[in-house]
Amino acid sequence: MSASDSFVDLARYYDPIMSHVDYDRWYLIGSAIGGLLPRPFTHLDAACGTGVLLKKFQAERWRSIGIDLSPSMLRAGRQSGRAFPAAAADLRALPFKACMNYITCLFDSVNFLLQREDMEKGIGSLGGALAPDGILYFDVVTERMVLEHFAGQSWTERNGKFVTTWECEYDRKTLIAETRIRVNSGPAYTLYERVYEQGEVEAAVTKAGLSLLGTFDAETWRSPRRKTVRIDFVAVNGDPRPLNARFKGVRDHVRALLR
Ligand SMILES: C[S@@+](CC[C@H](N)C(=O)[O-])C[C@H]1O[C@@H](n2cnc3c(N)ncnc32)[C@H](O)[C@@H]1O
Repeated sequence: MSASDSFVDLARYYDPIMSHVDYDRWYLIGSAIGGLLPRPFTHLDAACGTGVLLKKFQAERWRSIGIDLSPSMLRAGRQSGRAFPAAAADLRALPFKACMNYITCLFDSVNFLLQREDMEKGIGSLGGALAPDGILYFDVVTERMVLEHFAGQSWTERNGKFVTTWECEYDRKTLIAETRIRVNSGPAYTLYERVYEQGEVEAAVTKAGLSLLGTFDAETWRSPRRKTVRIDFVAVNGDPRPLNARFKGVRDHVRALLR
């Protein structure tokens, strides 16, 4: 397995495996946030994977492109036949400078950065790719998610034409969850994710020169609590004050959607 492509071999199973995932939540929230920006605007879906969200965002007729570290995920995304403007790149070293009006980086992708310095570098690089007044929307899963739903557990899922078996171990010292996934009776693929605390992510956002518009429990869009399993972060590359009133409108709209 290539060190830079943890999804090699697993990528072609990714969409059916994730078919139960509520991508519409990210799409609706992402679209509502995008509505804050004057059109036309450039949009980057960083760590786009097979492009499930990128393809949904294409309905918005933004100028959207994607990047992902995994060529296998991008290859799998191209097989759907729909236009998929995406290329291989590392979100810690994005080949874009101050040109994206809107960046999304969703579904745990920041948790795939396994060292704190990598997480800071990733958020710094996302910030560096934002144009002035550009907006960044990303999420992270919390330790609560790992402890409640993954750590020490093994389970089987039926994914249409194949079966996956899962095993997850979590090391509370390194904060790294190691998930082994086996398709039918094939070899096991291992994915690693690192848990980050809200405060350290917020500090990375500030260090990247961005201003937070809001940090929310992803399931309610209210303040994160002890029970929160996923946190959404929204930040702007500039003075947040001109956006505050309209952003409150987006926040209230999202809260109503999630009710
Ligand atoms: C859980 S998947 C989410 C993919 C996609 N955002 C989605 O919603 O389906 C995490 C993605 O992060 C990508 N990734 C991990 N580390 C990365 C990095 N350093 N740069 C870019 N992408 C990365 C993986 O290849 C994978 O596609």
